[in-house]
Amino acid sequence: MSIEEQFTFLEVSKAKEVAKLAAKIVANNIKKNKGIVLGLATGNTMVEFYKELVKYYKKGFISFSKVKTFNLDEYYPINSEDKSSFRSFMNKHLFDKVNIKEKNINFLNGDVKDFKKECERYENKIKKVGGIDLQILGIGVNGHVGFNEPGSSFTSITRRVKLSSSTKKANAREFKGKQVPKYALTMGIKTILSSDKIILLAIGDKKARAIKKTLEGKITKKVPASVLRKHKNVSIIIDCKAGK
Ligand code: F6R
Repeated sequence: MSIEEQFTFLEVSKAKEVAKLAAKIVANNIKKNKGIVLGLATGNTMVEFYKELVKYYKKGFISFSKVKTFNLDEYYPINSEDKSSFRSFMNKHLFDKVNIKEKNINFLNGDVKDFKKECERYENKIKKVGGIDLQILGIGVNGHVGFNEPGSSFTSITRRVKLSSSTKKANAREFKGKQVPKYALTMGIKTILSSDKIILLAIGDKKARAIKKTLEGKITKKVPASVLRKHKNVSIIIDCKAGK
């Protein structure tokens, strides 16, 4: 079975191997298509993955000079310079470590009054560059992808969403005692499904229930990630804890 062509499910033993395998696939895609449009995620799962991807850059295997990126989501409201913002996370783990051009980094601005206009701008920009070639996803303990919480419509596009209490609890560590914002701006399910290829990564036993429901249960709005089974080119890479 080719990892390039269909629904692929890979379970490896350790979290580190999830990061290595995902980075290898992404690096090969960048190598093949220097101007690739990547959809990126943040969060704990992504830390090792970006570390591995940076290694490919440092070894000279890939360059980010023509790569364009669109991150999935950002808290709302938040200033991009706030240490807890997803933009700060990306600077720290990837953007500041590779030769990506600022003009090629696309982010939802969590510091605008008119969030509807901001979401429209983002959705249009994705279309303008010809769509996302390769989208990286994590998964929430409740099965969310991006910040599309359970109940999100499969036809949703980039919009403001209210964060569920489980998501706020899971992400509280980034806010160190401060309140997690009530809202976020996120690409929608339809936006995500419009990507040519999708790779979802999951590590740790906290994700086991969400992964089981994603792979085995009904395709339902209650488990947003389950909709990925309708996409023609998805790879799901997990460690054995998330596969329990
Ligand atoms: C973040 C995002 C979220 C995370 C998910 C898992 O940009 O889109 O869907 O991927 O919440 O987060 P971690 O990896 O912190 O468990």
